[in-house]
Amino acid sequence: MAQTRFALIAAAGVLASTLLVGCERLPMDTQQVGYRGTGMEQVTNPRIVAANAPRHVAPPVLDPADASGPRASQAYQNVKVLGHLSVGEFTRTMIAITNWVSPEQGCVYCHNPANFADDSMQTKIVSRRMVQMTQEINSTWKNHVVDTGVTCYTCHRGKNVPEYKWFADPPAPSAGRMLGNDFGQNKAGKKSVGNASLPYDPFTPYFLGKDEIRFTATTALPVNAQVPLKQAEVTHALMIHMSEGLGVGCVNCHNTRAFAEWSQSPPARVQSWYGIRMVREVNNVFMVPLTPGQPKERLGRTGDIAKVNCTTCHQGVNKPLNGAKMLTAHPELAKPAGAPVRTSALSELPLSLIKPAN
Ligand code: HEC
Ligand code: HEC
Ligand code: HEC
Ligand code: HEC
Repeated sequence: MAQTRFALIAAAGVLASTLLVGCERLPMDTQQVGYRGTGMEQVTNPRIVAANAPRHVAPPVLDPADASGPRASQAYQNVKVLGHLSVGEFTRTMIAITNWVSPEQGCVYCHNPANFADDSMQTKIVSRRMVQMTQEINSTWKNHVVDTGVTCYTCHRGKNVPEYKWFADPPAPSAGRMLGNDFGQNKAGKKSVGNASLPYDPFTPYFLGKDEIRFTATTALPVNAQVPLKQAEVTHALMIHMSEGLGVGCVNCHNTRAFAEWSQSPPARVQSWYGIRMVREVNNVFMVPLTPGQPKERLGRTGDIAKVNCTTCHQGVNKPLNGAKMLTAHPELAKPAGAPVRTSALSELPLSLIKPAN
């Protein structure tokens, strides 16, 4: 009898420790992100942070090049975007791009070695567009990337194709199902939404389309234009992506007693509002039009090109590469001074709503 009881206690002990394996060991670090007493704290595990640290180190910076002498547009035959640089600066940029995108293949990843002016390689065509995209992000979307900026490395990290990207999911088959298309509901196990039972593709409606993210009613009684409450699930799926992409909790951007209230939200929420619009533009204006020339194996299951989300740049930290100032050593990746800052986005969000707490 006593033996059975002992065996049961031992089994219970094993079970308990198995269940606890999923918990993280203390101590944790906490940082206040909202007003005192609101419980708005960012909790991090210093051991996980330390283990991931190498991923967030900025690459070495090349020595500056001589800015004098003939322009690249005069010295070369087929330079359409970076022609204002000196030959030295242009070469420095080519070396940096090689380190960021194709360190293994070298220059020939984009160039026909017999003729560098030749535009026959798809990778060169894509890269020229990527230079323009990077310039657009750095100059037009300062509301998001500030002066920190991005280079090819922010997304590519030495790889031909960035590690974190998304493809549209084919719609779940609805024919013959009594309840129609379930959009992945009740099927846990989709990484894009933190394995939660939520609509599995929050990206197509928000990072390509302009679906309404905010659903909280602003009037006591329903009015015609009100966003349906079922929208809450797709919004939640997006919010989980944003939290995971940045490695932060909901309180990094919301006072959870009033998710919708801009006046109680930390500044990071406003910066994210611009981030959503920036990602939308990057995908619609730059990524999607590059689809036709892409090799088939680079496309997703619906024939769509790889697209950008928050994780593409952030990779689990609140500022990509822990806030390293990427643009300082590569001003050529911003548009020449005087480029307009995106103001249409500003006017979309009534400024009276942006009164971030400090
Ligand atoms: C990831 C793609 C990529 C890699 C790698 C790359 N380049 Fe380029 N290269 C380009 C693009 C794009 C242009 C056109 C730039 C423009 O139109 O402003 C270009 C243009 C050039 C030109 C001008 C040719 C002409 O006459 O028009 C030279 C020279 C050049 N690259 C040299 C190099 C060298 C040297 C390397 C290796 C150290 C290199 N490139 C690596 C993308 C690349
Ligand atoms: C905002 C993120 C982002 C930035 C910044 C970025 N890229 Fe990309 N790039 C992507 C994504 C996503 C893809 C995948 C699309 C695809 O399949 O071609 C890609 C694809 C490419 C490819 C095609 C790879 C292939 O073999 O099909 C090249 C070449 C490339 N990028 C070069 C560059 C260069 C050069 C820069 C900097 C001037 C740059 N990228 C900046 C996100 C980015
Ligand atoms: C990195 C910042 C950020 C994080 C983290 C974040 N949110 Fe959001 N949230 C936003 C922004 C920005 C909006 C408004 C989006 C828009 O209008 O385009 C929003 C909107 C919402 C809304 C809709 C409010 C309304 O007006 O109807 C809800 C609800 C919400 N978030 C819940 C959450 C939850 C739950 C989490 C944690 C799982 C979370 N958020 C994490 C930035 C964030
Ligand atoms: C093209 C790369 C890129 C993409 C994509 C991107 N971000 Fe950022 N983000 C940055 C950079 C660079 C910074 C640093 C700016 C700074 O120094 O404040 C930043 C900063 C932020 C911050 C401020 C962090 C802080 O603690 O001050 C938030 C919040 C944020 N991003 C949210 C988002 C969200 C949400 C998305 C997806 C909708 C997103 N970002 C997509 C590049 C990007």
